[in-house]
Amino acid sequence: MTSLTFPRRVELARRPTPLQLLTRATEHWGRGHRLWIKRDDLTGCLLSGNKVRKLEFIAAYALDHGYDTLITCGGLQSNHCRATAFVGAQLGLKVHLVLRGDTPERAEGNYLLDHLAGARVSCYPRAQYLREQADLLEHWRADYARRGHKALVIPTGGSDGLGAWGYLAACEELARDMAAAELPVGHLVTATGSGGTQAGLTLGVGLLDLPVTVWGVNVCDDEQTFLDKVAADAADWSRRSGEALPAKLDVRVLDGYVGEGYARASREVFQLIADLAALEGVLLDPVYTGKAFLGMLREIAAGRFEGCRDIVFLHTGGVFGVFPQAAGFDFSR
Ligand SMILES: Cc1ncc(COP(=O)(O)O)c(C=O)c1O
Repeated sequence: MTSLTFPRRVELARRPTPLQLLTRATEHWGRGHRLWIKRDDLTGCLLSGNKVRKLEFIAAYALDHGYDTLITCGGLQSNHCRATAFVGAQLGLKVHLVLRGDTPERAEGNYLLDHLAGARVSCYPRAQYLREQADLLEHWRADYARRGHKALVIPTGGSDGLGAWGYLAACEELARDMAAAELPVGHLVTATGSGGTQAGLTLGVGLLDLPVTVWGVNVCDDEQTFLDKVAADAADWSRRSGEALPAKLDVRVLDGYVGEGYARASREVFQLIADLAALEGVLLDPVYTGKAFLGMLREIAAGRFEGCRDIVFLHTGGVFGVFPQAAGFDFSR
């Protein structure tokens, strides 16, 4: 096992999160596997989900390097942007969010929370955002610099070699969880959207020699995008930290569950969210975890995990994304 020198982190998340056996889901969908859930939806309330684990390291970096402002970007309902807005408010840092999409008529979900946390928000039409994202971020960074502020630009999802420490560190927690639950080996399934959670986990299991195979269910783009992105984040992590990469970076993507596109969920996803909520009292979301959980169940049914008893689903949060999509649920049945 590699011994790593971790950078400083600001303690923001409620850790360790529980690893729970889903007994009724196991009975219902397990087909001989035991289904576990790692409750990273419980990392906090306003800082809930996976993003806060990355932001603990990013915020420490910002404070230690004299930044007074955080600039980041994402979709209108970005969980990462909401988490960054609250991290900023908790630490006394200014936050400016560059969001993809026209300014909504009604503030709801994460977008509402961004404002409540006091973040400054700039919305750009989708096409312009996609074309000019790097320029827009640089424009605002320079604007803050002109006004005497030092702004750290955090990439989409906090996914880079710095944010990767979040889930690399979480692998130590997972190792303890597995020992306590007497899981000798397992598969771990997570939603992957900007690749950073998957990158940290993939690095972590490689470096800590954990007997776990990490699978990312992509909620946008395709398999190759995430093979490349995870490799790029891992290389960036190694470059920044001076630590060696594991001998083998085992990046695995379960493609085929994006559906009609990012943040557009099928009826089946909405139904699954309702079914799991009623069956286990665990709430998924239609953008990330609902699609990933469906992908996991389909792959179980197809025999992907044959020969391994235990499967862990990483619940990466996203609860506030449920409310803007309430119309997708059908209670008429
Ligand atoms: C709730 C939730 N789950 C999963 C993900 C995917 O994580 P990552 O961006 O690290 O791939 C995100 C963010 O993109 C998210 O908000």
